[in-house]
Amino acid sequence: MVDLSIRAFSLSGRIRSKASKLWNTFWTKVYLRLCGCPYGKRLCVSDKPLLMVSRRGQLTFGNNVTLNSRRSVTVSGGNTPVTMHCYANGKIIFGNFSGCSFATLSSRSSITIGNHVMIGANAKIFDHDFHPVATELRRLPNDSDYTATKPVVLEDDAFIGAESLILKGVTIGKGSIVAAGAVVTKSVPPGEIWGGNPARFLRKVEP
Ligand SMILES: CC(C)(COP(=O)(O)OP(=O)(O)OC[C@H]1O[C@@H](n2cnc3c(N)ncnc32)[C@H](O)[C@@H]1OP(=O)(O)O)[C@@H](O)C(=O)NCCC(=O)NCCS
Repeated sequence: MVDLSIRAFSLSGRIRSKASKLWNTFWTKVYLRLCGCPYGKRLCVSDKPLLMVSRRGQLTFGNNVTLNSRRSVTVSGGNTPVTMHCYANGKIIFGNFSGCSFATLSSRSSITIGNHVMIGANAKIFDHDFHPVATELRRLPNDSDYTATKPVVLEDDAFIGAESLILKGVTIGKGSIVAAGAVVTKSVPPGEIWGGNPARFLRKVEP
């Protein structure tokens, strides 16, 4: 009896999940088309993302990109939907077979994501500081126009742990791992695991 009810529940859950994927992928594509943002084949969007692209901004998805904001798909405790902001000239570019769950990316210059990159729940990637460091500038109504900004790059096969924060100017090298909860302020060379706050070298990735 218990087994049957679990099966029935999981079946209806799977149907809801599939319907949500179809619906949200469709509307995301509509939004991207309206903004003139290119996307590749097999884009998969489970649950509603929050996408904001300015007139001069650019959001680009390669093939097989996955954006997941559905708790039944990723049970890693994500609490905000996938959020991507391209302010001013900001660009967010995803390569092929890359994806994120419940992550926030905010760009004023560029965030470039290679192929086969995984971005974990609640990770945040910012290529700018939102507000300037100088006090006088921070008092201005348009203070964010004066904020520092430097491109961020996540090279192929990077794995970004849950709850981590990647700040402006950082490159995560090919195949490198950012440990859960890390605050990354400096670039990570290829094939290394970095963690902590500020993130430091932990060990090499074993082949
Ligand atoms: C980085 C990670 C992959 C390392 O795993 P591992 O190789 O099995 O690591 P170990 O547990 O053997 O730890 C190796 C060292 O790194 C340290 N370490 C591991 N994770 C760390 C973290 N998140 N922050 C700081 N240090 C960490 C350990 O304390 C240990 O240090 P020591 O050698 O001084 O004892 C793993 O800890 C991690 O953070 N995974 C991310 C999971 C995740 O967020 N998934 C996405 C969900 S959506």
